[in-house]
Amino acid sequence: MDNQQRTCRVVAVTNNKGGVGKTSSTVAIGSILQTMGYRVLLVDLDPQANMTTHLAGSGVEFEQHIGDVLAGSASIQDLVLTYAPQSENADEQAPEEVTPGLDFVPSSYQLNLYEKGITKKAQYASLLRQALRPIRPYYDFILLDTPPTLQTYTLVSLVAADAYVIPAEPEKFSYDGVKAVIEAAADVKDMLNPSLELLGIFFTRYNPKLRNSTHDLVVSTITSSFGEEVMLPNVRKDAAMPKAQVAARTIMDFAPHSNSAIDYHALTAELLTRLP
Ligand SMILES: Nc1ncnc2c1ncn2[C@@H]1O[C@H](COP(=O)(O)OP(=O)(O)OP(=O)(O)O)[C@@H](O)[C@H]1O
Ligand SMILES: [Mg+2]
Repeated sequence: MDNQQRTCRVVAVTNNKGGVGKTSSTVAIGSILQTMGYRVLLVDLDPQANMTTHLAGSGVEFEQHIGDVLAGSASIQDLVLTYAPQSENADEQAPEEVTPGLDFVPSSYQLNLYEKGITKKAQYASLLRQALRPIRPYYDFILLDTPPTLQTYTLVSLVAADAYVIPAEPEKFSYDGVKAVIEAAADVKDMLNPSLELLGIFFTRYNPKLRNSTHDLVVSTITSSFGEEVMLPNVRKDAAMPKAQVAARTIMDFAPHSNSAIDYHALTAELLTRLP
């Protein structure tokens, strides 16, 4: 970590629906911000630990994880790792440039076992907010990858965040998921975190060719319900994205010219204009 003081923005990536691209978006946006020269920390708050696996590779278990930070048995500073892809993971789509210095704090499936103890603590909702305080000055952005439910780890993330973004899939029931997150965040804003702002909603796995379909209908319903001004650029469906995850590389390293990498660039540029 360098010694320059940063004005840190903490952004939660959240939706109570599973498989909508929360983890993919956290890593993609984080790695783009990092290549733009910002200091970025990604924190995995999901017991599925998909972001941890994406960045560290499968089969890697960490002795300590974000659960230890929330339980008070570790300091977050001691758990910061740096994404360092191994060259043997590279395939013929080898990276043009490996991104150095993308930091992350791992999760573990054991986070499930910590939940009961954490929720017994006084004012547990603020535990992540407090834990991030000492490292905020070292980062421009801290992005929080959240689980697919509006439970403990999503609550602590919304309380810790200055802003949140909602990735959604253009599929049936997406509207309900987006609405539930916006309502939960409004409650958090009212009661626990008055500065929490919605930065925007965007669609992942978007297929521009699907016209007059459920897909299109969902996109227009969400856009008209929540307002054109909260919509962010969509991210196209792209086979490179799951491949990058299997290779334990960011999409920027694995396929920097892919459709999803291009779309995440546009999305990140727009996000930067909306920061509180
Ligand atoms: N733009 C995309 N194009 C194609 N596949 C994608 C895209 N974005 C994400 N995916 C794939 O969709 C799946 C779900 O993505 P991801 O894990 O990011 O969702 P999630 O919301 O974090 O899921 P969970 O709720 O389980 O945490 C993954 O297999 C991922 O590779
Ligand atoms: Mg996820």
